[in-house]
Amino acid sequence: MAEFQTLTHDVLVVGAGGAGLRAAIEASAAGVKVGLVSKSLLGKAHTVMAEGGVAAALANVDDRDGWRVHFADTMRGGQYMNHPRMAELHAREAPDRVRELEAWGAVFDRTKDGRILQRNFGGHKYPRLAHVGDRTGLEMIRTLQDHGIHLGIDVHMEHTIVGLLKDGGRIAGAFAYDRERGRFKVFHAKAVVLATGGIGRAYRITSNSWEYTGDGHSLAYHAGASLKDMEFVQFHPTGMVWPPSVRGILVTEGVRGEGGVLRNKDGKRFMFEDIPENYRPQTADNEEEGWRYTQGDKNARRPPELLTRDHVARCIMREVRQGRGSPHGGVYLDIAWIKERLPRGEEHIKRKLPSMYHQFKQLAGIDITKEPMEVGPTTHYMMGGVNVDPDTQMSDVPGLFAAGECAAGLHGANRLGGNSLSDLIVFGKRAGEHAAKFAVANAAPRIDNSQVEALARRALEPFERDTSENPYQIQHELQDQMQDLAGIVRRREEMEQALDVIENLKRRAARATVKGNREFNPGWHTALDLENLLTVSEAITRAALERKESRGAHFRDDFPEKNAEEGKVNIIIRKTAGGAMSVSREPVPPMSGELKQIIEEMK
Ligand code: FUM
Repeated sequence: MAEFQTLTHDVLVVGAGGAGLRAAIEASAAGVKVGLVSKSLLGKAHTVMAEGGVAAALANVDDRDGWRVHFADTMRGGQYMNHPRMAELHAREAPDRVRELEAWGAVFDRTKDGRILQRNFGGHKYPRLAHVGDRTGLEMIRTLQDHGIHLGIDVHMEHTIVGLLKDGGRIAGAFAYDRERGRFKVFHAKAVVLATGGIGRAYRITSNSWEYTGDGHSLAYHAGASLKDMEFVQFHPTGMVWPPSVRGILVTEGVRGEGGVLRNKDGKRFMFEDIPENYRPQTADNEEEGWRYTQGDKNARRPPELLTRDHVARCIMREVRQGRGSPHGGVYLDIAWIKERLPRGEEHIKRKLPSMYHQFKQLAGIDITKEPMEVGPTTHYMMGGVNVDPDTQMSDVPGLFAAGECAAGLHGANRLGGNSLSDLIVFGKRAGEHAAKFAVANAAPRIDNSQVEALARRALEPFERDTSENPYQIQHELQDQMQDLAGIVRRREEMEQALDVIENLKRRAARATVKGNREFNPGWHTALDLENLLTVSEAITRAALERKESRGAHFRDDFPEKNAEEGKVNIIIRKTAGGAMSVSREPVPPMSGELKQIIEEMK
C-alpha cells in the first residue's frame, strides 16, 4: 500500500495562474472550502507572459468600441470556429471583470482624464487593451493573489497532479505528489477546476516555461473528457531569436501597438506586401497612416504589423525561408525608429515598454531605444482544450470544470492578443461559481483506493526500471520533432511521420528510468510529465491531420486554402474504451439571431 495524506475540499482548483486564482476566489466567496494546487510557486504563471494588456471594450480611448465590436473582432480573428456563446459572454463581461480588478487594487496606466488607458493590438478594431506598461499579466496575478489570500483558500504550492480520481462517471478528486519531498497526496473534492494553462513545452521554441506540459488537457482526456480544436496552436510572431539560451522568450505585441515595425534584412517593411482581403479596408497601405493610427488618430487605418498573429507569423516565416531574414533566423522589429517622430522617444519607449527594454539589454545586450530587435515566431498559446459548456465551464465529465488556456471554445482558430487575460477572469469566475454550485448540490463522492494504488504505482515505476532511457532525452526529441513536423507549416506526410515518432517515444517513455529518490528529483518530474506531453502532441497531430484546410493558426502546405465545409466543424478528440485516441467532427455551435446580426453589421 502506498502512503498518502488525504485532504478534503469542496472545490479543488488545479493551476494558480489568472484563471485558477479567479476561479478559487469565486468559489471561496460562495462559501465552499477551496483548495488551490500550483505546480510551481504561487505567482509564477504564464499569465505574466501576456504582457501588453487585457482586452475589454471599456471604450475609454475610443467611444465607438463596445461589446458587440469586441465580439465581432474575436469571431473574425478566430475565423468563426469560436463557440459564439463563449465569445459573447467574454465580450459582454470583460469590462466588469477589468473594473473589478481595478477595485481590487490593480494599478492600470491612465488616460489624461484618469480613466484606464487602452492600447492597440492586432485584430482589435479599436484601442482596447487595458495595460500596465508591458507587465499587465504580472499586475493581474499580483492583484488576484492579494485579493485571494484573505479568503481562506488552502494553497498547495509545488504539487503536481498525477491523475484525476472518479466515482463512477463523476469526478472525485485528484492524486498528487509534492515536488519537494515526493510525498503523495489525495485531494478529495466534489468538483475540480482545471486551470493548468498550455502545452508550449511540447515544442522546442516556446514562450512557455517548464510547467506548461499540457497537464490539464491530458488529465481531462484520460478522465474521459473530450478535447476540442487541438490543431489550433498559436505561434506568436515575435519571440526572441538570439542568443540561443533565450530563444522563444516573448516580445510583446505591445511593441507593435506602440509603433514598432517589422523589417527584413533589406530594411523593407514586408508586411505591406500581404494584406488579407477581409482586413484590407481597415489596414493602412502606407507608413504614414499606420503611424498616425498608433498615435491615436481615429481616422487612420492600422499598420499591417497589427494584423492577426497567425498571419504575421506566416509572413515572418516567408521572409526567413526566402532568404530575407536576420542573421539568426528571424526578422527585425524596430521601435527605435519612433524617435524620428517623437521628441522624447527614448523615454517614451522606456516608459511604455520597460520590461522589453530590460529584457533585451540584459539578455541580448541590445538597447531597443537605439537598435532593432531580432524576432521570430514562438509557440505561445493553445486555442484548443477541454470541451466545456460555455456558461458553466463544466466538461462532459460531471464535476470536472476547465477555464483559461486549458479550455477550448472562446478563441476558435486564432486568439487575438489580450483576449487571453480577459478569458482568464471571465471564465475563471464562471468556472469557480459553477464548481461551487455543483459542490453544494452534490454529496461527497467516494474515493476508490484501487485508483489511488494504480496511480501511485505508475508514479513510482520509473524508479524500478533499469534501462538507459533518459526522460530528458525523450522530452527533447519530442520537442524537436513537434517543432519540425507539426509546427507552423504542416503537411500530411510530416504529420504521419510525427505520429510514428510519438508512438515510438511513448514506448520509450514507458521504459524511462530515474535514479535517486523522490526528494527534489527533477528527472522524476520530467518522467511523469512525459505522459501529458505525449498525449497532447498526439492530439495536436491527429487533429491537424484531420483538418484538411488552412485556417487561423493551422496552416497546411498541402491544403493552403480555407474550405467552407471544413469551416463548419470542430475536431473532437476522445479516449476510447480501449485506450486509443479517437478523432471525430462536430458542427460548430450555431449563432443566435442577435449574434448573427452583429456579425452582419460589423462586416
Ligand atoms: O504580446 C503579448 O503581450 C501577449 C499577449 C497575449 O498573449 O495575450
